[in-house]
Amino acid sequence: MEQTDVANETEAEDALLEVLNSNNAVLHQYTKSNGHPRFVNVLAKLYSKLLNRDVNPQSEILSTLGASEALFCAITGLIDVGDEVIIIEPYFDVYVPLIKISGGTPRFIALKPKLNESELGSSADWVFDSKELEGLFTEKTRAIILNTPNNPLGKVFDLSELTLIANLCKKMECFLELEHFLASLPGMWERTVTIGSAGKTFCATGWKVGWVYGSAQLLRGLQIVHQYAVFTGSTPLEEAIAIVFEKELSRLGQDESYFVTLEKELKSKRDYIVKKLLEAHMKPTIPDGGFFYYLHSESDEYKDFQFTKWLTKNVGLQGVPPTVFYTDKNKQLFENYVRFCFIKKQETLEKAAQTLNKFNASHIEM
Ligand SMILES: Cc1ncc(COP(=O)(O)O)c(C=O)c1O
Repeated sequence: MEQTDVANETEAEDALLEVLNSNNAVLHQYTKSNGHPRFVNVLAKLYSKLLNRDVNPQSEILSTLGASEALFCAITGLIDVGDEVIIIEPYFDVYVPLIKISGGTPRFIALKPKLNESELGSSADWVFDSKELEGLFTEKTRAIILNTPNNPLGKVFDLSELTLIANLCKKMECFLELEHFLASLPGMWERTVTIGSAGKTFCATGWKVGWVYGSAQLLRGLQIVHQYAVFTGSTPLEEAIAIVFEKELSRLGQDESYFVTLEKELKSKRDYIVKKLLEAHMKPTIPDGGFFYYLHSESDEYKDFQFTKWLTKNVGLQGVPPTVFYTDKNKQLFENYVRFCFIKKQETLEKAAQTLNKFNASHIEM
């Protein structure tokens, strides 16, 4: 897998080397089921600060094997036969099978662009219809899964959208994936399970270190599934991520904080590729968060999988057809988009820009 040249890749690697060189035999043995103490302690300190409340490291944090295991524990631990779960499209593929094996039923609502196709927009211009969302809530609704920043769109749900969702959720538990604002809204701590992933945060997807936080009462169900599914996470990897988080905690909000530099770095990569796409007369949906963006294809001939295959073969650019993130009902609305990743080395982005210029010339003859 290609490296992304984001600074903390090396900090995480250095932390792991420190762990492996430490001669501390305990770090090679099983750790506690709810999470390696150093790891859950630093997460509790971090979220206590960010959420402005005391987060208990033992009962309100659970470490997991990536966000994937956190999703497995959250859905199978909290969804029962007959429950309904609302999913916002585009969505990550694991939600539906997990809901189904728990005996639940997924209900869907799609984010749709409010601008017409000829206008340039950002991911914030992709919205859900609030009346349609309200109509999905029934007495069987147990949860809504919210992925923000959304993969693949890069949408960051804003405060008014989160407040609307929170108000609809007040009568149920609610899962929130990959971000933490919903849990901080009034009355939402008791209803929100929030999932994070070191793979995403520190650009180390292969490490598979994740975590969940939420009220002790909600987390109990997840802890039981985790205990009997995997028992514990990986001690040395959790120790290494704890070291990186401890460093971050000591410089939170400062210019040298990774969270600050990452945001700047991602913004500059995003702005670079958007500028090049516009110069090549292409139409990206400018992402407000995450690592991905949608590109609109103007071709009537090539759509969806065909278009991404065509791009790979003839242009040398690898994208993902976003229809894989939609239900059959809505797939055809999004056949003219491709998802690309922009968290790449500068030289890779420059190569992509040159390729896009060549593509623009051949595109005219397509
Ligand atoms: C929305 C979303 N959820 C969960 C995951 C899985 O994360 P992890 O690799 O930490 O298991 C991903 C990975 O791409 C993702 O995009």
